[in-house]
Amino acid sequence: MSVKFAVLGHGVVGSGVVELFYKNKESIEKRAGTEMDVKYILDLRDFPDSPYKDKFTKDFNDILNDDEVTAVAECMGGVEPAFTFVKACLERGKSVSTSNKELVAEKGDILLAAAKAHSCNFFFEASVGGAIPIIRPLHKCLAANDISAVAGILNGTTNFILTKMYKENMSFGDALALAQQLGYAEKDPTADIEGHDACRKICIISSLVFGKHVYPKSVFTKGISEISLDDVKNADSMGFAVKLIASVRRLDNGKILPAVMPMLVPYDNIISNVNDVFNAVTVDGDGIDKVMFYGRGAGKLPTASAVLGDVIDSVKHSVTVFSQSWESSDDDKFIEPVANFSARWYIRDSSGSRITDKVMTFAEASALGADSCIPVLE
Ligand code: HSE
Repeated sequence: MSVKFAVLGHGVVGSGVVELFYKNKESIEKRAGTEMDVKYILDLRDFPDSPYKDKFTKDFNDILNDDEVTAVAECMGGVEPAFTFVKACLERGKSVSTSNKELVAEKGDILLAAAKAHSCNFFFEASVGGAIPIIRPLHKCLAANDISAVAGILNGTTNFILTKMYKENMSFGDALALAQQLGYAEKDPTADIEGHDACRKICIISSLVFGKHVYPKSVFTKGISEISLDDVKNADSMGFAVKLIASVRRLDNGKILPAVMPMLVPYDNIISNVNDVFNAVTVDGDGIDKVMFYGRGAGKLPTASAVLGDVIDSVKHSVTVFSQSWESSDDDKFIEPVANFSARWYIRDSSGSRITDKVMTFAEASALGADSCIPVLE
């Protein structure tokens, strides 16, 4: 028997899924324990020169109504029509593997419930950290831990831009154009620059680790557009790199505090040396102390690798994986206001720039009225 799957979207990631599948078909089938093939590729555009042109359809119902298709890779991006398509597939018992972080961050609880109700799986390893395995480790390998914090660089585009600007003197615009050319950036790169992409990823991690859906609207998010070259140079001379950090921490009061903002990372912290399109995530747990995951956070084949890993897993495991799930949340009372985010701070004002000795809250640091105020990642 040959398992048939469909790929929704033939953009950077979707085309990578098809390319990597046919490149490694033999070994993938060995690992899946069955023959596999792509039966459909859904895209509204025409690809007359594609070697897979006979597989293209513009009609989602071809996929939905074909009982031979038992697994689907969703690589369209955006909430709609992806949500409608994915939910319909799950309700027919077709497992879905997605790279779409916006979909998971906004609708993950609903889609996980649909998968559970219809005895299939909604997998999303590719939605966080590109090629890096982070979702499975969090709910499987690290399942014995009480996880208290997760932090890291979760957006490849901004890390690439910061690296090119500050290490190679490239302009912001040129670095962004190169990131777009390399297929790293979102369709609207504002989502990268202003931190929304990293926010979606920390929402997914927070939901998975702490068990309740964390919506992007509940998470303080600040991108890199206000970072000045002066601050980066000052930070460098004090022994810090400026990085866009997405983090979540459980506080003593039991609430969690997720946030996305530029932070100063000391050069003795390995995260400070994570450059270009690479992402890195640290996880703190009572058994492990700290572990770190590192790899390419964006790009065609790195992301396709994670999507296909999920497709293979969904082919091998036809029962729902319950550990990879969370509850819906009616409110955000379990989320601590960012005003109480505590750190030491880099301050630049009329008297120069310095790092505070004292740990202060976000509210206290903001009240200083400094020209620039950036927290330090400890
Ligand atoms: N635009 C995203 C990034 C793609 O740069 O990290 C991967 O999610």
